[in-house]
Amino acid sequence: MSWKRARLLLMALSLVPLLWYGQQLLDNRLGANPIEAVIRASGRWSLYLLLATLAVTPLLRLFHLKPLGSFRRPLGVACFGYGLLHLLLYVGVDQFFDGAAIWKDILKRPFITMGVATLLLMLPLALTSNNAMVRQLGGRRWKRLHRLIYLIAPMALLHLYWLTKADYRFAYQMTVLVALLLGYRVLHLARGHFVGNQGGKSVT
Ligand code: HEM
Repeated sequence: MSWKRARLLLMALSLVPLLWYGQQLLDNRLGANPIEAVIRASGRWSLYLLLATLAVTPLLRLFHLKPLGSFRRPLGVACFGYGLLHLLLYVGVDQFFDGAAIWKDILKRPFITMGVATLLLMLPLALTSNNAMVRQLGGRRWKRLHRLIYLIAPMALLHLYWLTKADYRFAYQMTVLVALLLGYRVLHLARGHFVGNQGGKSVT
């Protein structure tokens, strides 16, 4: 299979959770609180896709698969898509578009504040995820902007910790994965620095 086809397959696969949960919802198979179930599922998928986006660079370096780099953009866009769906479900289905209640929630509940801040930081990345914007910004500025992902990942974790009430296992698992993915970059950067040949290169 060509890399282009693999990328198209990946884009199609990223729609599977949406279709699966849509079908479960229609079939009334999401338990006693389907609204909470779909809000949580969309949040989880946004986080998984964030991790997948961060996994591209280590994987392409470890397995010398440069074309894998072209997977980063569709994964990032899908991550934003699920994040946006997560927000829309919260605003529309959980809060019934009640602007005052949503505003109160943003001010009063730190995990909501952090969720909104995380999605807002994803917005410029999603808006500049096309070739025209890469050209317009120039490669260096575009890469610098996209390093926001290193802030977005810990912020998404904070959102998760602050909303978790009792069982922290999922939050811990996600933290280990984020630590590995970001730790890899720190090691790579440090090695480049000491070897003296990659110090200034992008680590995204
Ligand atoms: C746009 C602003 C956001 C709002 C208003 C929001 C709101 C929420 C709400 C209301 C819940 C359910 C809490 C509960 O049932 O007790 C939730 C869960 C969650 N959200 Fe968000 N969120 C936002 C952004 C994000 C983003 C950007 C991510 C990921 C990158 C994310 C990941 C999650 C995860 C992983 C869960 C928990 C899922 C689980 O434990 O099953 N959220 N969020």
